[in-house]
Amino acid sequence: MPAACLTPLLAQVTAHSPDGWTDKEVMVYLLSAVGGTLLVLVPVAWGLVNILTRKADRRAMRLEGENRALKRTIEELQDGEELTDAHKAVEHVKAELGQVRAQADGFQKVIEGLQGERDELRRERDEAQDRYEAEHRRIRKAVQKDGTTWTEKVLSTAPEFKPLEPDGRRTPVLSILNLKGGVGKTTVTANLGAALARRGWRVLLIDLDLQGSLTSLFLTDSVQDELHKRGRLAGDFLEASFDSEFPNLPDDFAVPVLPGVTCDLVPTTDEMAYAETNLTVRWFLKDAKRDPRFLLRKELQLKRVTNEYDIVLLDCPPLINISCVNALAASDYVLVPVMPSKQATDRVTILLQRLKEFHDNLNTDLKVMGFFANRTKESDLTNDERSRLAALRNKCKDTWAAAPCFEAFVRQSAEIRKTEDERRPLGPGDELYPAFLRLAEEVEKGLPTFCFPAARPTPTKGALV
Ligand SMILES: Nc1ncnc2c1ncn2[C@@H]1O[C@H](COP(=O)(O)OP(=O)(O)OP(=O)(O)O)[C@@H](O)[C@H]1O
Ligand SMILES: [Mg+2]
Repeated sequence: MPAACLTPLLAQVTAHSPDGWTDKEVMVYLLSAVGGTLLVLVPVAWGLVNILTRKADRRAMRLEGENRALKRTIEELQDGEELTDAHKAVEHVKAELGQVRAQADGFQKVIEGLQGERDELRRERDEAQDRYEAEHRRIRKAVQKDGTTWTEKVLSTAPEFKPLEPDGRRTPVLSILNLKGGVGKTTVTANLGAALARRGWRVLLIDLDLQGSLTSLFLTDSVQDELHKRGRLAGDFLEASFDSEFPNLPDDFAVPVLPGVTCDLVPTTDEMAYAETNLTVRWFLKDAKRDPRFLLRKELQLKRVTNEYDIVLLDCPPLINISCVNALAASDYVLVPVMPSKQATDRVTILLQRLKEFHDNLNTDLKVMGFFANRTKESDLTNDERSRLAALRNKCKDTWAAAPCFEAFVRQSAEIRKTEDERRPLGPGDELYPAFLRLAEEVEKGLPTFCFPAARPTPTKGALV
């Protein structure tokens, strides 16, 4: 403490000091007072300094902590930017992933579509396989049938045969049949038909032989072509009937062939072969509901035929095909022309066996009207011919048919060829004509009288000869 400051202080202390204190004592006193004060103040100050220092340290530490925290925040913020980049990258990857997923979904759909198509194709393949196997079975069955249509079972849906009856059907149907070729079936059909027409019968001739000989006997090639083009042949009728198109035989297929009388022909050409194959194969393959064996039966028993015609003659082929079966299934009678040769008469036994099968399977009303000798050698039968025909008659007596031999016969004559060339049947001016008239008379004798034209309620158109 400067001396200038101490002097007043010393003066005051001296003034107030107990009496007798020397200056020295005062000085000691003062020094002691100051020293005591200092002793008190110094620790206090030191303590204060200490406190302040610690406070400052703590603050500094706090600041340092805050600083570090800030640094970390800054670092974190810096890290955050990286994260943002990473996030962006992640988002980008996510977006790409989304696209990839969308594509994958697309592919999945395509795959599912393809799988659907594959399943559909598999189903179609299985169905096709089933159909193929069914077809295969059908074809195998059809092939096993060997073409024998007449032995097939007749279903109850087949048209029933209505026998000739005075109050019912009165138009007899005759099949002219022999399984041997060239014996005169066609010749007999044409000339018997013409003879009956001239005797007043309204005659319908049907050519059922794909050779078309009966048709050629009456119609020129150009007329045949025309009818073929117009689909007016027997084969067309059979096919249309098989397909349930309800063709009308008398109105649309019968052609008048003999002037002045009612003698109509349903013609045939070799196109019939296709119709026959078609009908048989389709039936065996069960391609249509109708039984092709009864197409003629159904038609010939209809009023539109029985009102229009008094008798129907069917010229059969020399083999058993669907046309022949149709003829026999529709017929009341079979007339068998035979040549009185050994070979020809021997074959009659086979024919009778076959006819028995037809009778039993298809038409129990079928009867054999008789045998008619054609192409005999002389104007009278020779002894050989007579004995052969007698043997045949005896043979037939023992069979189910019990068929007679007709008294009438026709000798071999060039006149037949001549009339064929002229596309006409024998007529009143021809030498052989009386033989066919006799045949017609015998045929009439074999028919019920209620079938005769005169017995019918409506007058017939034909002129009597
Ligand atoms: N009495 C006869 N006199 C001379 N020739 C005849 C006589 N009968 C038939 N013919 C001739 O014999 C051939 C065969 O006759 P037709 O065509 O009538 O026999 P078909 O039994 O119908 O033969 P296919 O089995 O081939 O149908 C014909 O050329 C015909 O002119
Ligand atoms: Mg013939």
